[in-house]
Amino acid sequence: MSPIKYLSAHEKESPYYVLVGQSTLYVTNILAQIRELLILFGIGMLMIAGIGGWYLARRALKPVSEITNTARTLSAYHLDKRLPEKGQEDELGQLVHTFNEMIDRIQSGVLRIQQFSSDASHELRTPLTILRGETEIALRKERSKEEYQNVLGSLLEEVLRMEKIVDDMLFFTRADSGHIPLQNIKSNLVELLEEIIRKMQPLAKEKAINITFHPVQSNIIYKIDPGKFSQLMSNVLDNAVKYTNKGGSVNVDIKQLDKHISIEVKDNGIGIPEEEISKVFDRFYRVDKSRSGDSRSNGLGLSICKWIVEAYQGNIKIKSEEGRGTTLVITLSE
Ligand SMILES: Nc1ncnc2c1ncn2[C@@H]1O[C@H](COP(=O)(O)OP(=O)(O)OP(=O)(O)O)[C@@H](O)[C@H]1O
Ligand SMILES: [Mg+2]
Repeated sequence: MSPIKYLSAHEKESPYYVLVGQSTLYVTNILAQIRELLILFGIGMLMIAGIGGWYLARRALKPVSEITNTARTLSAYHLDKRLPEKGQEDELGQLVHTFNEMIDRIQSGVLRIQQFSSDASHELRTPLTILRGETEIALRKERSKEEYQNVLGSLLEEVLRMEKIVDDMLFFTRADSGHIPLQNIKSNLVELLEEIIRKMQPLAKEKAINITFHPVQSNIIYKIDPGKFSQLMSNVLDNAVKYTNKGGSVNVDIKQLDKHISIEVKDNGIGIPEEEISKVFDRFYRVDKSRSGDSRSNGLGLSICKWIVEAYQGNIKIKSEEGRGTTLVITLSE
């Protein structure tokens, strides 16, 4: 570029002059300074944003790392830890809440399994101890044919008892894992009940118990699994006979009402104390082991009944008065 011509004072005084060029050095310097400032400012902002972002992300993700750490410490035997809930309503608050709820469910499931296995082992121990004791005694010396027959008879009773416990346990193992196939076959419940009562008669006769069944309707059709219905009603009738004294009576009734079917089994037996009624549906629960005088009681019958009834969206209730009798009502919705 050609050198710049500056105007002398004398020249500036003249009325007219032509400006042909001007130095941009001043502007260039300012622009360079602004650029430097912008670069420094940019770097500063980047650093602040980086550190701030890192801090905020760490704060925001703290619950996530807490969940990770808590999840690492959980195992089937250590499910008592929970994450602190600070009452936040945001997504992380909900995640923490859902996580805690999930552990609650897993914990109660694991506790139930542990309780079930411990009860089952306890129940199996008794017949096993009897089997062992009786076999040892029988083997101590030479015995007559009759004595051996007696021992074998008693051993068979214990084996049958163990078989029943194992069958019932298998029912729950399958039920809990959703592996019980339920059929829905149109069946006449009145006919099924007649058949179940007929099979129960020999047991009732042993105790001179009279089972009566006079339904008003002879045809009550319901879609059910006949095998499961039989298991349900046999358990209920077995209880009615087992917990009724000699010479007592059991009455069975079935009614088709507006929107549901009601089945009632009423006995005039020993009854259940009021405070125990809510517990009889628990697995392995027996009001008093000595009451039935029957060593085949495992306390699983009613919990199986409850499972079956609920599988058909029905419900099962007990009304009872100690010393006067028990009425069990099953309601099946249509
Ligand atoms: N009709 C009844 N009258 C009096 N007590 C009953 C009656 N039905 C049930 N119970 C009480 O409820 C408890 C639980 O019943 P459940 O049928 O579950 O077990 P169980 O009869 O003892 O054994 P299982 O049915 O496994 O052989 C019984 O031990 C008994 O004390
Ligand atoms: Mg029973």
